[in-house]
Amino acid sequence: MAADVRVVSRDHFGTASLTAFLELMAPFASPVVGLATGNTPGPFYASLHREVGHGRASLADPRPFAIDEYVGRADHPCSNREFFARHWDTIPGAPAVHQFEVTATDLAAEAVRFAALLEAAGGLDVVVLGIGLNGHLAFNEPGSASDSVSRLTALTETTRESARPCWGDATPTHGLTLGLAEILEARRALLLVNGAAKAAVLHRALAGPVSSECPASFLQEHPALTVVADDAAAACWVQSSREASD
Ligand code: PGA
Repeated sequence: MAADVRVVSRDHFGTASLTAFLELMAPFASPVVGLATGNTPGPFYASLHREVGHGRASLADPRPFAIDEYVGRADHPCSNREFFARHWDTIPGAPAVHQFEVTATDLAAEAVRFAALLEAAGGLDVVVLGIGLNGHLAFNEPGSASDSVSRLTALTETTRESARPCWGDATPTHGLTLGLAEILEARRALLLVNGAAKAAVLHRALAGPVSSECPASFLQEHPALTVVADDAAAACWVQSSREASD
């Protein structure tokens, strides 16, 4: 099925992301939801916080799971755990996010534990994703197979460069991530993309070859994908769609 691609102005990115999220969550009584972190979803969480706080939206009893985590200090302000503490835990009534425990002595075993927890919950109903400049989904870097599972993974230089402004000298070399298998098995997928820097990779993801070289391209085969992109991020995709229909 063709993706539902919603192109919105930068100012409406947060509210459009929230609208799509609530639509995707609605069919599920207690949705198991995978949550992205990073710069992209900031406006989404701000909208969610505002609308739930004003009683205009409800979280419908979600069971949230982080989709990845840096292998770094858990209490570092740039860890995903701290991101959720700021952007999710402050939402009225939001249940705690299941997270990778980077303090575990055996990180490979930790990835297995996390996958088992997700599987016991029934797998993801809804997954909220960002996309890396290199096409990664969560920390599934280029080269990741579509049937890859939850694991410890080495971060590419591109990913480390994106993390460096926040982490500085402590920029992690590794991450724990859900695999593409667990992500692509989500019953609904929501990809959020903003900013001109992501225009080329979004085009690759939606219209390029489906390949491990661009893990997000596997989303082309997802049966229920919604994309919310701001004008800048959607520019290449919009242009090529126009050319294709001329
Ligand atoms: P960003 O990260 O939102 O910080 O650009 C997205 C991602 O790497 O998935």
